[in-house]
Amino acid sequence: MEATLDKARAESKPTIVAKPERFTGTLGVIVATLGSAVGLGNIWKFPSLAGANGGAAFLIVYILCTLLIGLPVMISEHLVGRTARAEAVHAYTKLNPIKKIPWWLIGAFGVASAYLIMAFYTEVAGWVIAYVARSLGSSIFTTDPAVTGAAFGNLVSNPWLSLAVQWGVLLFIGLIILQGVAGGIEKTTKRVMPVLLGLLVLVVIRSLTLKGAGEGVKFLFQPDFTKLTGPAILTAMGLAFFKLSIGMGTMTTYGSYYGDDQNIPKNALRVMLGDLSVSILAGLAIFPAVFAYGIEPGIGASLLFITIPTVFASMPFGHVFMVIFFVLAFLAATGAMLSLVEVPTAFLVEQFKFSRKKATVLVVGSLGAVGTLAALSNSVLADVKPFGLTFFDLFDYLSSNVLLPIGGLLIVVFIGWVLGWNLIEKALTNSGKLKNTGVVRAFFFVTRFVTPLLVLIVLLNGFGVFGK
Ligand code: PHE
Repeated sequence: MEATLDKARAESKPTIVAKPERFTGTLGVIVATLGSAVGLGNIWKFPSLAGANGGAAFLIVYILCTLLIGLPVMISEHLVGRTARAEAVHAYTKLNPIKKIPWWLIGAFGVASAYLIMAFYTEVAGWVIAYVARSLGSSIFTTDPAVTGAAFGNLVSNPWLSLAVQWGVLLFIGLIILQGVAGGIEKTTKRVMPVLLGLLVLVVIRSLTLKGAGEGVKFLFQPDFTKLTGPAILTAMGLAFFKLSIGMGTMTTYGSYYGDDQNIPKNALRVMLGDLSVSILAGLAIFPAVFAYGIEPGIGASLLFITIPTVFASMPFGHVFMVIFFVLAFLAATGAMLSLVEVPTAFLVEQFKFSRKKATVLVVGSLGAVGTLAALSNSVLADVKPFGLTFFDLFDYLSSNVLLPIGGLLIVVFIGWVLGWNLIEKALTNSGKLKNTGVVRAFFFVTRFVTPLLVLIVLLNGFGVFGK
């Protein structure tokens, strides 16, 4: 009897209970979360959108959106993630008190948004990498925009090159995701963020010390309200969602990796302020230099790849600063992409019990497939325009201006009207350990009334429902 038992014991494999994935402490939490928020949104989208929509006026609306919409949505997502200890889809299933309403759809839309965003984001990150290589040589080091324009055209209209840079980026991100939450995401962002900030400050100093830089500073801080149309306000709100990585589940998934002792409202405020500072720094890196050389700022997405090189080519030590600039842009994109890939990966691991390796391979492969549509938008698929937009522009518009705001709206409705005060108070005061009930009350009020109403009004106004 004993012998057979021994044999059985020897043969049975002990069940290995996987240690739950966690960030290691407050620094890890802040750096990883800020790493997600900071990205091409700060370096590429914020300056070009501010340039096109009235500079300081856009900045003011954007700041209001981050405060009244961004911050409450971010706190809500961290709350859901940490309380449920689950990725975005599963978290809503777990916390949902009324099973008849499928709140888990918030998470499912989030996974879809992650795909749409990654599709074009990896392509832009791929261009940035190509520009790191190019800036080391002399092909784009010219003050002639016709030459930089042609160089950019050559890159985006070459289907193989576009695919190669995109898949290269995906592979790189996949390899980090394989290392896990603390060992991959946290470790990488801890290395990348200080370098990124240091490099950015260097470029800001260079830009601000150019003759005529004052015009650019004025542009960023002196509002021109005539450009603030309904669609421009929607764009500012969409940017706030995109910038803070909210409305889709990234912050829910990251929240599930937060320790029980983390102060959620305080951390979210720090991340929001940190991200805003990086956007303003990016504005101060770009506009003073652009104005110093008398270049028009309102030039859309080509700002980064056509205008910026000519600006660098005009200034003393410009070659070094151009390399620095594109390196920092890629570093910024890295933390953001890690968080975007983590959403579907965590979903597959938790929902279908896939190993992290299998989930990562699947996610990276399928992202490559969807991304191809965006990568080929300026070449083979340039004439395929569903809703009048190329796949690249469609994914960009749909995610920022439709999916993220609707996702955010549903999240605050879930928090403000479904979850109930008791659970929220317990979660945000860490079961009474934090003395921040006033903050929690204010959060609850804003999330219940102010944020949903604002998002709704801006959405409808942006779509012209109240008339043009
Ligand atoms: N916040 C990132 C940026 O500014 C983009 C992002 C959006 C990341 C949504 C995750 C989720 O670049």
